[in-house]
Amino acid sequence: MAQAVTSTTRDLDLKHLWHGNLQHRGLEARPPLEIAGADGCYVFDADGHQYLDAMAGLFCVNVGYGRREIVDAVTAQMTRLAYYPLTQSHGPAAQLAGRLAGLLPRGLDRVFFSNSGSEAVETALKMARQCARRLHPGQNRYKVIARHRGYHGFTMGALSATGQSPRRAAFEPLVPGFLHVPPPDHYRCSFCSSQPGCTLGCADEFERVIRMEGPETVAAIIAEPVIGGGGIFPAPEGYLERLRATCDRYGVLLIMDEVITGFGRTGKLFGFEQAGIRPDILTFAKGLTSAYLPLGATVASEHVFEAFEGDADSDAKFTQVSTFGGHPSSCAAGLANLDILTRERLWENSAAVGAYLIQKLRAIRSRAIGEVRGCGLLIGLEMVSDANKTPLPEGRMVQLQREIREKGVLVGRNNDSVPGYCNVLILSPPLTLAREQADAIVTAIEGVVGQ
Ligand SMILES: Cc1ncc(COP(=O)(O)O)c(C=O)c1O
Repeated sequence: MAQAVTSTTRDLDLKHLWHGNLQHRGLEARPPLEIAGADGCYVFDADGHQYLDAMAGLFCVNVGYGRREIVDAVTAQMTRLAYYPLTQSHGPAAQLAGRLAGLLPRGLDRVFFSNSGSEAVETALKMARQCARRLHPGQNRYKVIARHRGYHGFTMGALSATGQSPRRAAFEPLVPGFLHVPPPDHYRCSFCSSQPGCTLGCADEFERVIRMEGPETVAAIIAEPVIGGGGIFPAPEGYLERLRATCDRYGVLLIMDEVITGFGRTGKLFGFEQAGIRPDILTFAKGLTSAYLPLGATVASEHVFEAFEGDADSDAKFTQVSTFGGHPSSCAAGLANLDILTRERLWENSAAVGAYLIQKLRAIRSRAIGEVRGCGLLIGLEMVSDANKTPLPEGRMVQLQREIREKGVLVGRNNDSVPGYCNVLILSPPLTLAREQADAIVTAIEGVVGQ
């Protein structure tokens, strides 16, 4: 339930909080929403207005808000053991690692905990570099190939893997050794947009780059099963299989960044299950606890883990430690969250209501909607100004987002991702979304996009 309005929160925010990705000058005239409470798929602002949160916070509250079960599990854990680091061990971390291993395909069963998606990715990149050097002694495998438009986090390594120049530019030079290839963007693809389906030219770019750079210099490929914040680009049929085959051919590790796609978002429990492949390393955060507490996880397959074994070799260990990674309370939240997710089989609702929502969005008759794409409850609407696919200007996108909000629905957009192409509205609601709530999202969007 919404709490009482406190003008102090707004004053203190404007005076002392530093928000990311936001111009603070003039913020008084357009202050951020003050969210005071939430329940199910809805959030409430301090003035008591209700909004359908079609972004699940930031792609993360998968089981929805207000789940008492998670709160109780965390309270019990904090009472029993508020903290201990994983320099030793504790029950919640071991149990959650075991639970994840049980949900994943055989062999993907070693879990390194951290605190966020960026840290999970940073860990995966470091793991891959150290592992590649151990698996290929005498070679210098350090390069990582990622995709334009992909997002992997804000820390320097994860940002170097990120293929969004507006997010990178202010901090360059970034970490050496990161290369980018085009994303699977059939709508604007230079390989195949004139053809009815994807020809996987974009997937073949990975092999071309590996050969050009020299396979003995390449440690890993990193990709999101569906590019999320960069504008919603699902992997086309055969794409992930092609990446897996390329990695196998050249001894390169395949990292799947499942920070958004993990835990039901795409209509499967994990995004890579859209294809019949097994990655070498996985990254999770967001849906792992449904954001009730911060937690990141990097899962390695047995052959990655085994590369770090060796009694007589003092370098034979993953050289990293994290004070808060695998915090007992976060792991307790993760366990309770996975209980809910698996008991309610929320990936099935994600698949069914997601397909329904996509179909309804595609039925909107508006020249401003160039394409609706996505899978499960991860959906993008590419907005255009004309029949030549000219991207809708960013100013208009901001306005659209605001108008939809005025109709009671919070949607996202791919701001700061690619110069000139910040024209995708994004939907990523809780996986509990009901069809009537999907209808409400469609009605709000239809009401503002014009014919
Ligand atoms: C695919 C992907 N990887 C990594 C991250 C970074 O996660 P965090 O914001 O928790 O650091 C994000 C964040 O949105 C993401 O979408």
